[in-house]
Amino acid sequence: MSDPGKIRKPVREEMAQFEAYFGRMMKSNIPLLKIILNYVFRRKGKQMRPLLVLLTAKLNGGIGEPAYIAATLIELLHTASLVHDDVVDDASERRGALSVNALWNSKIAVLMGDYMLSKGLLISIEKNRTDMLEITSEAVKSMTEGELLQLQKSRKLNLSEEDYFRIIRGKTAALIAACTACGARSATDNPDTIQLMKDFGETLGIAFQIRDDILDYNGNSLTGKKSGNDIKEKKITLPLIHALEKASLPQKRHILRIIGNKKKSRSEIDEVIRFVTEKGGLEYATERMFQYRDKARAILDTYPPSEVREALCEFVNYTVTRDK
Ligand code: IPE
Ligand code: IPE
Ligand code: MG
Ligand code: MG
Repeated sequence: MSDPGKIRKPVREEMAQFEAYFGRMMKSNIPLLKIILNYVFRRKGKQMRPLLVLLTAKLNGGIGEPAYIAATLIELLHTASLVHDDVVDDASERRGALSVNALWNSKIAVLMGDYMLSKGLLISIEKNRTDMLEITSEAVKSMTEGELLQLQKSRKLNLSEEDYFRIIRGKTAALIAACTACGARSATDNPDTIQLMKDFGETLGIAFQIRDDILDYNGNSLTGKKSGNDIKEKKITLPLIHALEKASLPQKRHILRIIGNKKKSRSEIDEVIRFVTEKGGLEYATERMFQYRDKARAILDTYPPSEVREALCEFVNYTVTRDK
């Protein structure tokens, strides 16, 4: 099991600094903006990304203002992408509360996401960190490509494992790779180190999304998102891809017909969940996830032992065992 306390320990004070820094950056005079920003940022989420920025900064030299700037940019970007994602996915819950599109509406959610993205742009320009802007912009581009590919593929309901990995590399791993690349960049100029840390983040990010996709089937009240939401949204993820490969043709047709339906009953959703479980889809996805976990650990092993390295190793363990 992983120990979340151990992950934060080496950067506990710096995380508090980051939160204060972030709060200062989020000031606004426009009433509606203030209300929504408050609503969104009070529900902080797991804050894995800023934590990852600070830990990789510390691993590669130390934490200074550049690391706080990077963590701010990334948390803004991440939050914007979630606010937009809930519009795209028509999801009504996020972080255990109503999503912005559910509480206000989609127009407001789209505009709020845009506001957060532009805020990130401005901060990086203001602080003269176009190097970090470059890393994060590249991630935004990959995220959008990944999301578009997912939309396109889910309409046709034919997703190969290869497509799946392309999608998650874009929509999730690219941003986590940006965390670790920016964290390293804030502490060193060495391009090899930055690339190595980027690879670490990408590998970790893939494991993270596989876990997320497994959690959609495991269904628990901790995630703050409804279980079966992916099925509802015709999102075909690794557990299902594998289960479909193992199924007979009539079975496959039957399941795909359910997935393809716009309206699905709760019992149909539960049927898909049962199908995936019985066909060993969750076990298979877990195995693949462990391969990425091992690769991420191997990268960490190239560093000498330290408290930060240990924390990052726990981070990796947490990623693949988390329940929310
Ligand atoms: C959710 O990310 C989006 C995915 C990439 C699956 P997190 O699970 O890190 O979201 P928060 O920030 O903790 O809410
Ligand atoms: C979220 O992907 C990834 C991004 C926000 C780019 P999902 O749609 O799979 O994530 P959740 O389950 O809503 O958090
Ligand atoms: Mg989505
Ligand atoms: Mg979603």
